Amino acid sequence: MRKAFLFLTIVAACIAGGCKHQETPQPANTNTPGTTPTPTPNPAPTPNPNPADTGICFKRDILPIFLSNCAMSGCHDAISRQDGFQFTDYNSIINKEFVPGNANGTELYEKITEDDNDKRMPPPPRPALTADQVTLIRRWINEGAKNTDCSSDCDTNNFKFSTAVKPITEQYCKGCHNSAAPSAGIALDSYDGVKTVALNGRMLGAIKHLAGYKPMPQGGSKLSDCQVRQVEKWIAGGALNN
Ligand code: HEC
Repeated sequence: MRKAFLFLTIVAACIAGGCKHQETPQPANTNTPGTTPTPTPNPAPTPNPNPADTGICFKRDILPIFLSNCAMSGCHDAISRQDGFQFTDYNSIINKEFVPGNANGTELYEKITEDDNDKRMPPPPRPALTADQVTLIRRWINEGAKNTDCSSDCDTNNFKFSTAVKPITEQYCKGCHNSAAPSAGIALDSYDGVKTVALNGRMLGAIKHLAGYKPMPQGGSKLSDCQVRQVEKWIAGGALNN
């Protein structure tokens, strides 16, 4: 009951202030990058019989969803930590009230599947996660919420806008840079939007973390060298819609 009230207050404040509601004292961030995750108090009740077969890579498929939809400044980045939740890396995501192996028992899953628009996360006006994203997160949790990394799939010689650049913007950028709520006035959910920042130099400056540009994805780690190289080569080739 108290929790529901607290949550409603936060949502109301969130709507009023676009996530920048009044500061509540938050516990210090105790996540140390690179350390093993803190064991969760609830052991996985339904271990996945076949965890190796998932094909889901946390770093490639799951983390970008969190970075792009939850880890914005004022919401769940390392500084804002609304309601004590931070979603910027593996350890912070699975730290709290997270039940690897049981999506239905995980509060975060409840929030992203909430039917009531006023209660769901991310809160309006941000779009809800897509059905595909929800399914991926559900599978990932039910399969044990592993910290998997499949970055070796990236190819810098054989790629196109549709097979490399578009998936990068969809995974890592669109949550903040969409037409409904474009951060910095930049919408990256269409070819034209991406092309504009590609050709004016800001996209490369931002993802290469060059001086004079805001480092992107904001609040997340840098794209892999291979992904940056793909974007760079795509731009050098004329930023074609291929
Ligand atoms: C968590 C939210 C978030 C994510 C994810 C994000 N951005 Fe941004 N982006 C912002 C905000 C906010 C600004 C404005 C920053 C400022 O002015 O301080 C911005 C600014 C930019 C700018 C302008 C930078 C400049 O210095 O002119 C570019 C280009 C950009 N983003 C591209 C991207 C790309 C490409 C991605 C994905 C690889 C991305 N962003 C991911 C929130 C985000």
